[in-house]
Amino acid sequence: MLVAIVSCASGPPPSRPGPDAAAVEAKADFGEEWFVSRANTLGLTVEAAKARDRAISRTGPPAGGFWDDQLALQSASLWRLVCNECHPGRRGIGSALAIPPPPPSWGEGQGRFFGRSRTYGEIYDAIARGVSHPHGAVSMPAFENKLTHEQIWGLIRFLEHASAPAAE
Ligand code: HEC
Repeated sequence: MLVAIVSCASGPPPSRPGPDAAAVEAKADFGEEWFVSRANTLGLTVEAAKARDRAISRTGPPAGGFWDDQLALQSASLWRLVCNECHPGRRGIGSALAIPPPPPSWGEGQGRFFGRSRTYGEIYDAIARGVSHPHGAVSMPAFENKLTHEQIWGLIRFLEHASAPAAE
């Protein structure tokens, strides 16, 4: 049977069922397990690793020791497992491992994400607090209670390179 689909370019997109928000959020919940392995890599106690993470905010990644193989692998896995539910674009683990650590002032000012210039703080907020779709269709859930602050910065680093290999 042939079905004609008429779309109106100026109107809102038809609402379509999105992935179940609770299921997406549950997949992103790495909490305790991540802190144990992260603390191990950083040579910290789990408590110290948590305190380190609490001190990380939207203003920038942790000073010293940001971006290593563990975070690169974690970012690529989170992208696949969680973000790919809605955002297209697969990236191999190898390409994440090839991303170099950022220069010292990275995270300040603007970067390019999905082809647009945005401040890093805005991108942090989008991942932490979620994004309401302008037309009320599928919205992006808030991840701040699921992902650690460092994981959010890891995703930002990963995304920036996935969008366009940055010239730094
Ligand atoms: C349930 C669907 C969904 C999931 C899952 C999702 N997003 Fe989104 N995301 C959206 C929507 C919808 C937008 C808004 C798109 C637009 O503005 O056109 C968006 C926008 C964004 C933006 C752009 C924000 C801006 O201000 O420009 C970033 C960055 C982003 N998402 C990152 C992520 C990351 C990282 C993950 C995984 C942790 C993720 N998203 C998971 C639906 C989702």
